[in-house]
Amino acid sequence: MADFHIYEPRIGHGLRHDPLNAIIGPRPIGWISSQSPEGVPNLAPYSFFNAFNYRPPIIGFASIGWKDSVRNIEAMGEFAWNLATRPLAEAMNASCAPVPPDVDEFMLAGVTPAPSRRIAPPRVLESPVSFECRLTQIVRLKDAQGGDVDTWLVLGEVVVVHIDKALLGDGVYDTVAAQPILRGGGPADYFAIEEGQRFRMVRPGA
Ligand SMILES: Cc1cc2nc3c(=O)[nH]c(=O)nc-3n(C[C@H](O)[C@H](O)[C@H](O)COP(=O)(O)O)c2cc1C
Repeated sequence: MADFHIYEPRIGHGLRHDPLNAIIGPRPIGWISSQSPEGVPNLAPYSFFNAFNYRPPIIGFASIGWKDSVRNIEAMGEFAWNLATRPLAEAMNASCAPVPPDVDEFMLAGVTPAPSRRIAPPRVLESPVSFECRLTQIVRLKDAQGGDVDTWLVLGEVVVVHIDKALLGDGVYDTVAAQPILRGGGPADYFAIEEGQRFRMVRPGA
């Protein structure tokens, strides 16, 4: 019989580190570019990120606190998502620095803003995959008592997809070749993926 460590988060986890991020991990990273109404580009990573719908494709991220990305996206109604890859890991990390809204985080991270097709915010030129998104909802999270949480889920429809053709050899997107980085737990853990870790399983009845 397994011996469980059991805790209620409201009371405390009783461990050296909160395990939540390490348990719900590794997570894909939403490397989000946005633009202020004054035209200053913004770039920041969000690992509370995922895809939520196929057609239309809808992706979203949670901002813990009303951060510059949310402010820009609420004001402009647009944002881009960029794939954070192993070669871009340091740049992604540099883009999370807490800097004032008038600082261009593309410059800070040493990446190049590339024009988007349908939206004003630039995408990251060096990233092999980018999505141009239009804001669909900003949802303020609530706790189980119905109280407001200072966290905002930003959802957007993907209206344009950019994929480096090198990742599309035979018309199938090559996840491993893209070298995505994934966020683990603790202050510094990330994971990469390798071909040897792949396994396949079809759905019942498929
Ligand atoms: C890998 C990584 C993942 C992060 N995930 C989140 C997240 O999910 N939510 C959040 O609020 N902040 C997250 N952060 C912190 C933000 O990136 C940081 O607060 C950033 O300064 C916000 O930028 P902005 O104010 O320009 O939007 C993350 C940082 C890193 C390095």
